[in-house]
Amino acid sequence: MSTSTTLDQLVLRSPTDADWAQTTLLHGVSFGHFEHADTYAVARDLIADDGAVVVCDDDAVVGMAAYFDFAFTVPGGAVVPMAGVSMVGVAPTHRRRGVLRAMYVELHRRIAEAGYPLAGLTASEGGIYGRFGYGPATMERVLTIDRRFAKFHSDAPDPGGARIIRPAEHGDALAAIYERWRRQTPGGIRRVQGLWDDLLADREDDRDGGTELVGILHEDGYVLYRVCGTETLKVRVEEFKAVTTDAHVALTRGLLGLDLVETVELGTYARDPLPYLLTDSRVARTTKYEDDLWLRIMDVPAALETRIYQADVSTVIEVSDQFAGSGGRFALDIRNGRARCRPTDAPPQVSMDLDVLGSLYLGVHQVVPLALANRVRATDSMVLPRLQAAFLSDVPAHLGFPF
Ligand SMILES: CC(C)(COP(=O)(O)OP(=O)(O)OC[C@H]1O[C@@H](n2cnc3c(N)ncnc32)[C@H](O)[C@@H]1OP(=O)(O)O)[C@@H](O)C(=O)NCCC(=O)NCCS
Repeated sequence: MSTSTTLDQLVLRSPTDADWAQTTLLHGVSFGHFEHADTYAVARDLIADDGAVVVCDDDAVVGMAAYFDFAFTVPGGAVVPMAGVSMVGVAPTHRRRGVLRAMYVELHRRIAEAGYPLAGLTASEGGIYGRFGYGPATMERVLTIDRRFAKFHSDAPDPGGARIIRPAEHGDALAAIYERWRRQTPGGIRRVQGLWDDLLADREDDRDGGTELVGILHEDGYVLYRVCGTETLKVRVEEFKAVTTDAHVALTRGLLGLDLVETVELGTYARDPLPYLLTDSRVARTTKYEDDLWLRIMDVPAALETRIYQADVSTVIEVSDQFAGSGGRFALDIRNGRARCRPTDAPPQVSMDLDVLGSLYLGVHQVVPLALANRVRATDSMVLPRLQAAFLSDVPAHLGFPF
């Protein structure tokens, strides 16, 4: 009887042109969705130099993984390089024998060597990436609004200034607004022209049964949506970016003004103030609350010294990384919004795994609840609320786009 191929019979390497020709099949099979050739080409263009690996069984590609070279905004507005891990798939014929793990070992060796302080990904499943030092760092909150019963509170401003558009005719305006938005928002990612062209191509295949893309444009924000259904109409918001509070409310009023639509579904960030604009905030139901961006801190001192903080705290933290050696013990001194973080031999006061530090980094997940779950441990619990206050972000984190 023959047995399945083992890992040591497989070859891991950077892809050749012939390998790339095969990866579209592996990618399509892995995700159950075959990308348009132009979409796939744009994704390939984002890959960093030497940022892809494949695993081959003879001449068949059975595993692939890559990382994009992203510019990423952290709390306080600094923009840092982030390795955006993506295009990860293993053939169903070769799963659960360590192919992903082998590709991740190599990919993260390259990411560390290239000096990225952060690596990020969006996960197909929630149970896979903690072991690799990634923690959920932003959350997506889906609001499903029964538009027929949504009434604006008398305190809600009505600034106007919004108009309906065909998005493809306003690509430059949309890109300029996004660029302002991503620079001021932790979680923002620079979006290259190829990604805009791909989004605005608005191919039938990408509509998932909805209409063509429609836009509402304000000078400081935009919303892109489709209408789904025939008898009962539902609006599915594809993207909502507001640089100012006036733009946020003007766009919300535009969306909720769609008289013949029953529900509006909007995937947004945890602290979106939209429900507060309504007399009955229950009308804006949270129908999903799920991890969005996952972060792995590749270089603890560099990452912690790049962001700004909301409170002072001085402590020694021990960070464990079972996967790739980014952990260690650090003296962390946060004063006047800035951190000084240096390796130390002093006894630790706070300890956590690297994935937990990734979850704290953008200020979405908080120290005290993580401590209640024993994911953060302290010799003196008094330090926990101070650490929590320090790690908050004044601007709520919101992932720029999924990748
Ligand atoms: C997810 C996927 C890449 C895993 O590949 P794989 O080669 O089977 O994974 P490995 O055998 O290397 O497993 C690595 C580790 O992850 C764990 N793991 C793998 N898939 C898992 C899953 N779906 N849920 C939870 N844990 C998982 C394994 O148990 C193993 O743990 P260990 O090394 O600590 O013992 C593969 O199933 C796949 O291609 N899925 C469809 C596409 C997809 O989801 N891609 C990821 C996009 S974010």
